[in-house]
Amino acid sequence: MKAKIGEIKESAIKEIKTSENLQNLNDIRVMYLGKKGKLTEILRSMGELSAEERPVIGSIVNEAREEIEKLINEKTEELKKKELDEKLKNEKIDVTIPGKKFKRGSKHPINRVIEEIEDLFVSMGYDVVTGPELETDEYCFERLNLPKGHPARDMQDSFYITNEYVLRTQTSAVQARTMMNNKEKTPIRIICAGKTYRREDDATHSHQFNQVEGLVIDKKENNVSLADLKGTLEVFVRKMLGKNSELRFRPSYFPFTEPSYEVDVTCFKCSGKGCNLCKSTGWIELLGAGIVHPNVLKMNGYDPDKFSGFAFGTGIDRLAMFKYGITDMRYLYTNDIRFLSQFDRKDEE
Ligand code: PHE
Repeated sequence: MKAKIGEIKESAIKEIKTSENLQNLNDIRVMYLGKKGKLTEILRSMGELSAEERPVIGSIVNEAREEIEKLINEKTEELKKKELDEKLKNEKIDVTIPGKKFKRGSKHPINRVIEEIEDLFVSMGYDVVTGPELETDEYCFERLNLPKGHPARDMQDSFYITNEYVLRTQTSAVQARTMMNNKEKTPIRIICAGKTYRREDDATHSHQFNQVEGLVIDKKENNVSLADLKGTLEVFVRKMLGKNSELRFRPSYFPFTEPSYEVDVTCFKCSGKGCNLCKSTGWIELLGAGIVHPNVLKMNGYDPDKFSGFAFGTGIDRLAMFKYGITDMRYLYTNDIRFLSQFDRKDEE
């Protein structure tokens, strides 16, 4: 029996030594030390031995078992290390391979213009405010001195959702909102940019467009005048379209300002000489503006004897078109990446 144990041990050692993977090593463990393994079998058959032989053989089996176990454990470590080494070798990372370039979007030209306008007016002490795009008839028209049935509403023939709700046709609605929201009726200096909607659709008009609105209201004794309006718009237009831009005020009509003006700017393409862009006039119509109508002050809680101010509004899309030389307004809304990526300004990176 001793010889048999010796043989088993020798063959186990040989197999462990030549084993090449963990699965195989586990099979060896089962084959020799498992419940039905070769050494276990010997222990089971010890009943046949004499009482003197049993402890001797028992201890030889245990020794052999311990030795095999030890070898298997050592080999396991060795194989595990080998496996890891191989894995690491195969997964070698070449840090010199150039990285994948992250494709970055670019700011939409409309948003560029809005941010530029907001920055400018914030630097002059204005607050940036917003208002809802789905507006009430009351704020879009009535509180701006345009009661129901007023002929000036025709110009803004629009998207009514119900009789009372309309997609706002002008950011001027925010004028009324700001005055009404200001419960203390303190002076106001705001700029508000955002989307507006009208039933229009051609190369220079879109059913959805953007406007920016400015409103200044101050105490009467501070004499906010047309001169202030003109100076403000000059700063604005020169910042946006070039420092040589000149302004021309033409009398006009808006229900919420009196007097009212259409403000033209010298054509930046021909510098006022006359070209196809300005239709040979040298001027381009740019803004609506005027002195806030006393009715509007009154309707929105300001005493026209104590307060006065000016307001102006302009189309941001038109400004963007002039600024960047865009020929069709619809390009601004088709989200074509070939168009939009042209406005990715490297100097902002
Ligand atoms: N809301 C006017 C428009 O859309 C423009 C405007 C704004 C005129 C403010 C005067 C004062 O045509």
